[in-house]
Amino acid sequence: MITVTVQTRPRPYQVVVGHGVLDEAAERIRAACGAARLVIVSDQNVAGHYLDGLSASLHEAGMTVSHVVLPPGEDQKTLARAEELYGVLYERKMTRADAVVALGGGVIGDLAGFVAATYLRGLLLVQAPTSLLAQVDAAVGGKVGVDFRAGKNHVGAFYQPRLVLADVGTLATLTAAERRNGAAEVVKYGLLSGEPTLARLEAALAPGTGADLPPESAGSASAPPKSAPPRPAPSGPVPRLEPDPVALCDEEIIAECVRYKAAVVVADEREESGERHLLNLGHTIGHAIEAAGGFSLYSHGESVGLGLHAALWLSQRLTGLDAAQAARGERLVQAAGAPSRLEGVDLQAVAGLVSRDKKAVADHVPFVLLEDLGRPVRGVHVSTADIEEVIAWLAAR
Ligand SMILES: NC(=O)c1ccc[n+]([C@@H]2O[C@H](COP(=O)([O-])OP(=O)(O)OC[C@H]3O[C@@H](n4cnc5c(N)ncnc54)[C@H](O)[C@@H]3O)[C@@H](O)[C@H]2O)c1
Ligand SMILES: [Zn+2]
Repeated sequence: MITVTVQTRPRPYQVVVGHGVLDEAAERIRAACGAARLVIVSDQNVAGHYLDGLSASLHEAGMTVSHVVLPPGEDQKTLARAEELYGVLYERKMTRADAVVALGGGVIGDLAGFVAATYLRGLLLVQAPTSLLAQVDAAVGGKVGVDFRAGKNHVGAFYQPRLVLADVGTLATLTAAERRNGAAEVVKYGLLSGEPTLARLEAALAPGTGADLPPESAGSASAPPKSAPPRPAPSGPVPRLEPDPVALCDEEIIAECVRYKAAVVVADEREESGERHLLNLGHTIGHAIEAAGGFSLYSHGESVGLGLHAALWLSQRLTGLDAAQAARGERLVQAAGAPSRLEGVDLQAVAGLVSRDKKAVADHVPFVLLEDLGRPVRGVHVSTADIEEVIAWLAAR
């Protein structure tokens, strides 16, 4: 088991990563925050596997435990659901000395976290993430919230948990598609942090395809010079290999991602200095693709995978990323199961959505790009022409 301490002020907290972490939940919760009354919030998919075991072990340790189980899915992240949960906490007479335990993926973590942050101005919060995406991303860093009208996470707060229990064993019951969803974020951390994470990811995902390969076997990452037109689209269906990145469900890999995110979060807890923007690598174009596909054609992970391809391409053109390193990044993104080509969406709409990105300032969208693998730069000004060109390249590969 690996413990990463997130050095938030005034109160740091621990993220415990490993197999069987949930079995030790009672003692760890007691040590972290002293709560003895808990409400576990979960969804039906997760509860079926893990709720009884967790409830029983907390109960045996003398804690008062109850639960709420919601249907799965993003459409649960609403103010209406939050209000229902407030009702449950009210009826169960929960106080600020009591804890909400969010047992599930990012949806449960965000929703239950938001409820914990706001009910009585803050109950104790324990995150128990059970999806790869939630373990490496959503459960760490203190962003909680719900969707509002068309805006994802439009209503929310920064509210750090007292403890994060990331039981790697729970990832065994995820679908391959959900593992791929989280895998794109894992690869993002690899590209941001460089060695030793990159080599570890290569060994796990695509053994024998790492930095040691000669450049001619480097795949298709090279960005054309400014004057070259995008290559024509190959005809026929795009081969989708859809690997199952099960090898990423590894204690050390997840802990490395958590360490990276924790360092960024500590440097910029409330997204004020800009440091936290680093975590947006691949997301500027990724978010636009996700939205252009109506949040159904491409999952978040697939969209981020395509966004990472685009970021590697733009990094060669604008921030001097070496072609062989870009190709290395490309191979990892591909091995994590990202689609290799953008299709089925209106390319103009994607470009338009990029300029309307949440993080846009004045007339430009600041991009996170790479000078080298492990050397991100933020706030890079990317012209509309380059945005259109890289989107055309994504659709024509
Ligand atoms: N707060 C943040 O910083 C942050 C960061 C990234 C994403 N998010 C949010 O996280 C959400 C996405 O997270 P997600 O991908 O975990 O989605 P999710 O919570 O919907 O989980 C994905 C699916 O996997 C199922 N599942 C989860 N764990 C399982 C397990 N161990 N076994 C079997 N099934 C399991 C869920 O029931 C669901 O069907 C989005 O709402 C997003 O906005 C938040
Ligand atoms: Zn993401």
